[in-house]
Amino acid sequence: MSRSAHPAGPRHADVLPEGHYSAPAADLNVLDEKVWSRTVTRDADGALTVGGIAVARLAEEFGTPAYFLDESDFRARCRAWADAFGADADVFYAGKAFLSRAVVRWLKEEGLNLDVCSGGELTTALDAGMPAERIAFHGNNKTVAEIERAVEAGVGRIVLDSFQEIVRVAHVARRHGVRQRVQIRVTVGVEAHTHEFIATAHEDQKFGIALADGQAAEAVRRALALDALELVGVHSHIGSQIFDMAGFEVSARRVVQLLAEIRDEHGVELPEIDLGGGLGIAYTSEDDPREPHEIAKALTDIVSRECEAAKLRTPRISVEPGRAIVGPTAFTLYEVGTIKPLEGLRTYVSVDGGMSDNIRTALYDAEYTVALVSRTSDAEPMLVRVVGKHCESGDIVVKDAFLPADLAPGDLIAVPATGAYCRSMASNYNHALRPPVVAVRDGEARVIVRRETEEDLLRLDVG
Ligand code: LLP
Repeated sequence: MSRSAHPAGPRHADVLPEGHYSAPAADLNVLDEKVWSRTVTRDADGALTVGGIAVARLAEEFGTPAYFLDESDFRARCRAWADAFGADADVFYAGKAFLSRAVVRWLKEEGLNLDVCSGGELTTALDAGMPAERIAFHGNNKTVAEIERAVEAGVGRIVLDSFQEIVRVAHVARRHGVRQRVQIRVTVGVEAHTHEFIATAHEDQKFGIALADGQAAEAVRRALALDALELVGVHSHIGSQIFDMAGFEVSARRVVQLLAEIRDEHGVELPEIDLGGGLGIAYTSEDDPREPHEIAKALTDIVSRECEAAKLRTPRISVEPGRAIVGPTAFTLYEVGTIKPLEGLRTYVSVDGGMSDNIRTALYDAEYTVALVSRTSDAEPMLVRVVGKHCESGDIVVKDAFLPADLAPGDLIAVPATGAYCRSMASNYNHALRPPVVAVRDGEARVIVRRETEEDLLRLDVG
């Protein structure tokens, strides 16, 4: 690896330009266990290891950029969620966060169910052997062909998202001579986002059927009237990267209220409620996510309390964490390419990936952290912006972070907590080749999604 000299970048002590960042950690070599997966540590040479394998070896064998997924951490998180909710509840992993055949097998082995939201995700789940009854099918505009496949496969539930879909699913089920288990997705009037929840303007979105104006009650009436549908419950999903349980409490209360109204009107007590996903993870040291057992306790307590007040039998609860399971289990490994110090501002560090492997920073202003992982360094902290190699200036991976000032081309740096919505939202922008996902466990590393090749790109280009 070359370590060519470059002009010194601005030091944090000299200048702090605009941006969201706290002071650099006292020691940049220390890896905050909050944001790194469980088996990540530094070896005696100072190199980061995951599953017992040093990053230099991983980079040599699999190249960069690449996502390294800590399999034992993934499995441990699945178990933690399953144990926290216990036998009287169901945990559905949200496949949109990241899905591959290996992941489906791990979920199956660890006793989780799976939420899919497209024909592609359904195919992956079935192909890898997830029993259809453990699959829930979501989406605001499922095609009739997708509904056909889901019904034919015998998925455990279809989550109805619109009035049209009630009729479509019933029609397909009737043609197949089955009674399809369904839930109705309602919008409960809570829109939750990072660190806050807002109880306004929430019906103004494409998902679900509104509770507030009686639409949800009407959808229930229609679904109950159709023999081809077995309405088993009500579903609600309030947002993403949520830390505050208050939004879930309001949502649970309103869903239970609907169950009580259904009982009063129709004389049926629906046996299930699904409170969706959206639980937050630590992307930086400032984030403090809840543990699954705290989340399970908060949700089950509120549902039991509300049901008792409404004199309802407590329904079976389900949840759909995606990010909270896979997010913390992976990091993206990059090689440093060019370095551009801007006196009085910050140092731009370009890596061999970018917005094609992590669109979240550009799209949501998401915050990430970064560390030098091929070695340790005692150099002072330097304020950096980690950017990609794409042809636009918004191609930012980490907006504001600190790396040692002796950083040089050829160094390996890693961005933690990239397991969710990075590979699954990766693109071929600038004909970038999407990076591989490598599962690491107990000293062994294996590719579970291979790196794209230029042949892959040309194969689709049939002009
Ligand atoms: N259930 C439903 C019905 C959902 O719509 C979602 C996410 C989940 C569960 C899982 O949410 P999670 O626990 O993973 O937060 N691309 C965005 C996130 C979009 C989430 C969409 N729905 C991001 O990168 O932050």
